[in-house]
Amino acid sequence: MKRVKIIFLVSLVSLLTLGFLLLYIRNIINVHAVKTNSTISLASLAEKNDLKIGSEFDPNYAFHQSLNFDNTYTAILLHEFNLIVPGNNFKMKLIHPEQSRYDFTVTDMIVDFALEHHMDIHGHTLIWGNPKSLPKWLQDNSWKIPGRPDRDVLIDILKNHIKTIVGRYKGKVKAWDVVNEAFCDPANHAHKWSVPCIVIDGKKGGMDASVWRTVIGPEYIEIALQAAHEADPDAYLYINDNNYESINSPKSDKIYSFVKDLIERKVPINGVGQQMHIPLDAVDFSQYDRVISLIQQNFRKFNDLGLDMIITELDVRIKKSLFGPSDTQLKNQAKVFASMLKICMDSKCPSFTVWGFTDKYSWIPGHKKGYDYATPFDDKLRPKPAYYSLQEILKIKE
Ligand code: G3I
Repeated sequence: MKRVKIIFLVSLVSLLTLGFLLLYIRNIINVHAVKTNSTISLASLAEKNDLKIGSEFDPNYAFHQSLNFDNTYTAILLHEFNLIVPGNNFKMKLIHPEQSRYDFTVTDMIVDFALEHHMDIHGHTLIWGNPKSLPKWLQDNSWKIPGRPDRDVLIDILKNHIKTIVGRYKGKVKAWDVVNEAFCDPANHAHKWSVPCIVIDGKKGGMDASVWRTVIGPEYIEIALQAAHEADPDAYLYINDNNYESINSPKSDKIYSFVKDLIERKVPINGVGQQMHIPLDAVDFSQYDRVISLIQQNFRKFNDLGLDMIITELDVRIKKSLFGPSDTQLKNQAKVFASMLKICMDSKCPSFTVWGFTDKYSWIPGHKKGYDYATPFDDKLRPKPAYYSLQEILKIKE
């Protein structure tokens, strides 16, 4: 009996060792595949199309000095993309942690890194009402000055914040999300991020009840754009938002009339950003052509105002499974990535950015329960069908 047990254990250990060995060899082959397949990089194809192809970027993995430095991540980032978008470092909470103190340590490193590697930087984001991006001092009312109207004080804070940052990186950061997620999604009206939306003229689809909107009023957006323009007249200025991909949806209509009014009053604005965080299971593939046409028409409508419409945060998340994504899911995901890139390339859309290029470091599993696999490279940094679909679209226009 004892002998049988020993034989069983030895066989089990051998099988496991063989399994691990095979997995290891497969990974080596795949890493090799990353290098060989990517000789025609997305960036080199994009350059020919006059397009900036970007990725959200986390400096934790990209700087040699960092404990988390990831050589393969950095190599792919530098090879495949010509634009980086720091996911968090420009947010007020990190760059302006105390009212009288800015912290440029990381953003300076990012800007130097990008310039050294001849990449553009899209600054995300100067003003965002979400408490997650606000420093404590702005949330606990310690900024108020007794005897001065709160509105005046907050306008000064907003202007100084923008002028300090945009001024510091003048000529280096070429484009900014000046204001992020200022508008409300009527479908998500009650509580978007724990603060209720404001109803304008009794209608849903107004603006978020952020400290900026509540204390200053909707004018905070034009004050922000104006301040950014004064600090760097050559910078491209965007307002960035989510869930308004389709033409004539209530949120798209709201943003359209808002920016149209800005243009008519000659407020400096170059365009609007479409975030596009898309759950694959929400895409209606039975009416795919119609869905795509509605998005295309929305791009055209904003373009007709003379504005860029850029894609700023694309990812396509898939329901998590023990066995990973199925081939069909990956194929459908690739189709969505390709369609969005095609729409961008057929429009006045100078940049196309994915919100992280690899599942290894994606924000999705940590923030969207039950979802994963949202980016064009898997968690081992191997290209997925979505990567090749982007390559194909870029080649059509080569
Ligand atoms: O760095 C700290 C770490 O020190 C700490 O231990 C840890 C504990 O929670 O938090 C870490 O910070 C987190 C940070 O991401 C970096 O990972 C913050 O808690 C977390 O709130 C932050 O989430 C970011 C989120 O915006 C809120 O700012 C996501 O990474 C980022 O991908 C996400 O990006 C937003 C865009 O800015 C706007 N559009 C939507 C998009 C997705 O939500």
